[in-house]
Amino acid sequence: MARLIVYYAHPGQQHSHANRAMETAARGIEDITFVDLYAEYPRFDIDIDREQTRVLEHDVILFQFPMFWYSTPSIIKEWQDLVLEHGFAYGSDGDRLTGKTLMLAVTAAGPEDAYSTGGYQHFPMRTFLTPLEQTAHLCGMCFAVPFVLFGSLKAASDGRVERHATAYRALLLAIRDDRHDFDAGGAEVLTFDSAELTAEV
Ligand SMILES: Cc1cc2nc3c(=O)[nH]c(=O)nc-3n(C[C@H](O)[C@H](O)[C@H](O)COP(=O)(O)O)c2cc1C
Repeated sequence: MARLIVYYAHPGQQHSHANRAMETAARGIEDITFVDLYAEYPRFDIDIDREQTRVLEHDVILFQFPMFWYSTPSIIKEWQDLVLEHGFAYGSDGDRLTGKTLMLAVTAAGPEDAYSTGGYQHFPMRTFLTPLEQTAHLCGMCFAVPFVLFGSLKAASDGRVERHATAYRALLLAIRDDRHDFDAGGAEVLTFDSAELTAEV
């Protein structure tokens, strides 16, 4: 069994459809730790010792967030800046995260075809996530194929939020139970209708 911690970050949860449904699907799953970063640290006073202990106690660290300006909401950046200390996460004797896995569950308003060189976002989704990918590698961690909901603002009205949240729960259970292939057969991203995930549901 993998020890999984989900760090959820959404500063405007009262307006959320996608992430709120994902939160509902994820919260309370047995043997998964769920942390709402904005609820725990509304003033960004992240407790470094507590967070370092938390990550040491888990094998898979998953950040769940809406994409904001091609990046994460700012509290995830603050968490990285403070928790991933030299001598802990990186540096000549900073090897405490070696062998763990970092995974992202991202919602983005842009449609999937916009996230391509020919699309209006000009770059694939994975390009925007490279700072987190390389952060994982620098810390000796594996970077898992991210789970993405594209077109997130329209997803509630066309029935995709529910399917996404159901697949998210299945994904978390599969990770917990060591049934998930983090390489996802070489896919760029995982979506709720990816073969890798529907096989796990
Ligand atoms: C400040 C801000 C920045 C955003 N930046 C992006 C972006 O860079 N790319 C994108 O596809 N969507 C962007 N969005 C849209 C959010 O990703 C979208 O609102 C979210 O995925 C919807 O999820 P929710 O229903 O849980 O709120 C942005 C939204 C806000 C409020």
